[in-house]
Amino acid sequence: MSDQKLHVTDGRTGKTYDLPITDGSIKAMDLRQMQTDPEDFGLLAHDPAFTNTTSCRSAITYIDGDRGILEYRGYSIADLAEKASFLEVQWLLLNGELPDAAQLASWKSDLASRAHLPAGLLDVLQGLPKDAHPMSVLMVLMAALGGYSADSRNVRDAKVRAEHIRRILAQMPLLAAAAWRHRRGHAQIAPKPGVGYVENFLRMIYGRDDVNPVLIRAMDVLLTLHADHEQNCSTAAMRGVGSSECDPYSCSGAAIAALSGPLHGGANEEVLRMLAEIGSVEHIPSFLAKVKDKKAKLMGFGHRVYKSYDPRAKIIARIAKEVFEVTGKNPLLEIAVELERIALSEPYFIERNLYPNVDFYSGLIYQSMGFDPSYFTVLFAVGRAPGWLSQWDELIRDPEQKIARPRQIYTGHRARPFPR
Ligand code: CMC
Repeated sequence: MSDQKLHVTDGRTGKTYDLPITDGSIKAMDLRQMQTDPEDFGLLAHDPAFTNTTSCRSAITYIDGDRGILEYRGYSIADLAEKASFLEVQWLLLNGELPDAAQLASWKSDLASRAHLPAGLLDVLQGLPKDAHPMSVLMVLMAALGGYSADSRNVRDAKVRAEHIRRILAQMPLLAAAAWRHRRGHAQIAPKPGVGYVENFLRMIYGRDDVNPVLIRAMDVLLTLHADHEQNCSTAAMRGVGSSECDPYSCSGAAIAALSGPLHGGANEEVLRMLAEIGSVEHIPSFLAKVKDKKAKLMGFGHRVYKSYDPRAKIIARIAKEVFEVTGKNPLLEIAVELERIALSEPYFIERNLYPNVDFYSGLIYQSMGFDPSYFTVLFAVGRAPGWLSQWDELIRDPEQKIARPRQIYTGHRARPFPR
C-alpha cells in the first residue's frame, strides 16, 4: 500500500479526505465517498474519450509519448523491427519473453497446422458485394469464424483461450487474403505448407510463389511495427467487449470495427487520398492553409499519446527506401516529404506537437507493393491481431477487471407526465 496521499478538501462541505496515490494515480472509486449529504450518489470523475483515465494495469507495451519511446515487453521497437521476426514478436507479446529456438519452431508449427479455414466459411463472401470495404469484409469473416468455434466461449479456460488465440493468429492472414481476392474477383487460394507466415500471406495476395524477399521482410517489419500500441481505440474495444466474457472472435470483430475508422487505422488510407488530392508540391501551402483554418486535417499527423516523432514513423522511412528500390519510387513520396518538411516548420504544428505518425508513410509503401488504399487498414489489422489477443488474455486473467460499464452525466428530461 502506498503512503503517498492526495489531500482534498471538498469545497461543498468543507470535509477533507486523504486519497491513496498508487502508481501515479488515484482510484476513481475513492471519489465516491465525497457526498454532499447521505442521499448524494457521491463524486464522479468525468472523462469523455478517457484522456486521463487508466483502465487497466498492463505489462505488455510501454509508451513514453513525450520522448517518442515504444517498447513491447521492455524491448525497443527499433531493436524488434531490426532483429526479430513478426512471429517472434507475436510470441513475445503473448508470453512476455522472446521465444528460444525450440519455442519458435513449435509456434511456427502450431500456426501452420491451424492455417486452414473451415469448409463453408468462404461462402459467406458470396453474399457480400465486391466493392464492400475490405475492413467490413474482414469483420464479417472474423465474426463468421466464431460461428465455427462454439467452445471459444469458455473464456475462463486458459487452454481454450490459448487454442483460439492460435487459431485467430493462424487464420487472420487467410481472412485478409480472402477479402483481397474477393474484391478483385480472383479465385481463392490456400496457404502453401512449408512456406513462412508472412511469405504465405503475400503469396496468397499476389497469387504467385516468387515473392521478392525484400518485400517479405518489409511486410514482416510493418506487421511488427503495428503489433501493439497499448490502450488505443481498437484495443480498448477488444478489452471493453471482452470484459463481457464473450468469445475472442466477437471481440476481434469489434476491434476490427474500431480500427477501421479514419481517426485510427483508417488514417493510412486517408493519407493517400490526401496526397493524391494535393496532387503536386506547389499545392502544399494552400492545403496547409486550409488545415490551419480547420477546413481540412493533415492526415497521418498527430497522436493522442505521441507529442514528439512517432518512433514507428522513423523505421517506416527506412523500410520505404528498401521497398522503393524494388518497386520504384512512389510518385506521391515527393509530396509527402515536402509536406512533412513544411508542416514541421510551421507554428500551427509546432505549438500543437503535431508530428508524422505511423500512418503517414506506411500507405506509400503499401501502395508501391500493389495494395489499394482501402485495403491498407486490413494490413494494420493483421499486424495488430497479436496485440489485441495479448491484451484480451491479460484482461481475462486480471482479477481487478469486471465488465466495463462507464457512468454518465444525465442531461435529459426526468419524470415527465405522459402526454396522453
Ligand atoms: N491536422 C490538423 N490539426 C490537428 C491534427 C491534424 N492531423 N491533429 C490534431 N490537430 C489539432 C486539433 O485541431 C487541435 O487543435 P486546437 O487546439 O486548435 O483545437 C489540437 O491539434 C489537438 O488535437 P486533438 O484533436 O485534441 O488531439 P487528439 O489527441 O484528440 O487526437 C488524433 C489525436 C490522432 C485523433 C488527431 O491528431 C488526428 O485526427 N490525426 C489525424 C488522423 C490520424 O493520422 N490518425 C492516426 C493516428 S496513429 C495510428 C493509430 O494509432 O491509429
